[in-house]
Amino acid sequence: MPPFFVTTCKKNTLHFPTQKKLEPCMTNTSDHTNKHSSDVVWHHATVTREHREDLNQHKSVILWFTGLSGAGKSTLAHAVEDRLHQMTCRTFVLDGDNVRHGLCGDLGFTEADRKENIRRIGNVAKLFLEAGVIVLTAFISPFRSDRQLVRNLVHPGEFLEIFCSAAIEVCEQRDVKGLYQKARKGEIKNFTGISSPYEAPANPELIVDTGASPLDDCVDQVIELLRSRAIIN
Ligand code: ADX
Repeated sequence: MPPFFVTTCKKNTLHFPTQKKLEPCMTNTSDHTNKHSSDVVWHHATVTREHREDLNQHKSVILWFTGLSGAGKSTLAHAVEDRLHQMTCRTFVLDGDNVRHGLCGDLGFTEADRKENIRRIGNVAKLFLEAGVIVLTAFISPFRSDRQLVRNLVHPGEFLEIFCSAAIEVCEQRDVKGLYQKARKGEIKNFTGISSPYEAPANPELIVDTGASPLDDCVDQVIELLRSRAIIN
């Protein structure tokens, strides 16, 4: 018989430089989907977000890229992630097309489905925030109220909205996936910018001209935003 190895772990013995403790934002999403019982109680982790941030040597944040299909949200988000990764930051990109294969695979493009799509992503992004990660999300997220709902899930300064401002003409000309052409022919319904609205942010933390500026310049602007907010050094 192999000997038993018993590892004991004293609770609450992690030592990190003390910091002002930031409680997770408990804001209720207060919509019809919030049906949990009052018997479901939040479990507070022993390893906190502050511990994770200390380990990572940077703050966590949600970088919310919004804009038309083909505006370059995913391209920019991944390029920013690449730059941050080289700087040894912990990052993750949540991408519309990918998330719609799994977590949101049951959703289409009606207003209600898009709302639910963004609600789910917002809550996933919030979990990443607690995990100490810089989470980059690339979703059209066409409705202001939905983006506001995500902003309200977290503390001020933890949700940075980045408007990828490429004009519809530019996106349509790029038509990387051929979807604009299909939408014009009526083969795709509720297509953003053609048969469904896009509400540009009124007060985003950053506007990047992804229709005209070189990718590297756009990345620089996002990195500068993170520095100016003391998310990274
Ligand atoms: S969102 O409106 O709910 O935020 P999301 O970003 O997840 O949209 O998905 C957008 C992607 O789905 C687009 O980049 C495009 O490839 C694809 N797509 C398929 N149908 C549509 C549609 N009707 N409107 C917009 N994008 C669509």
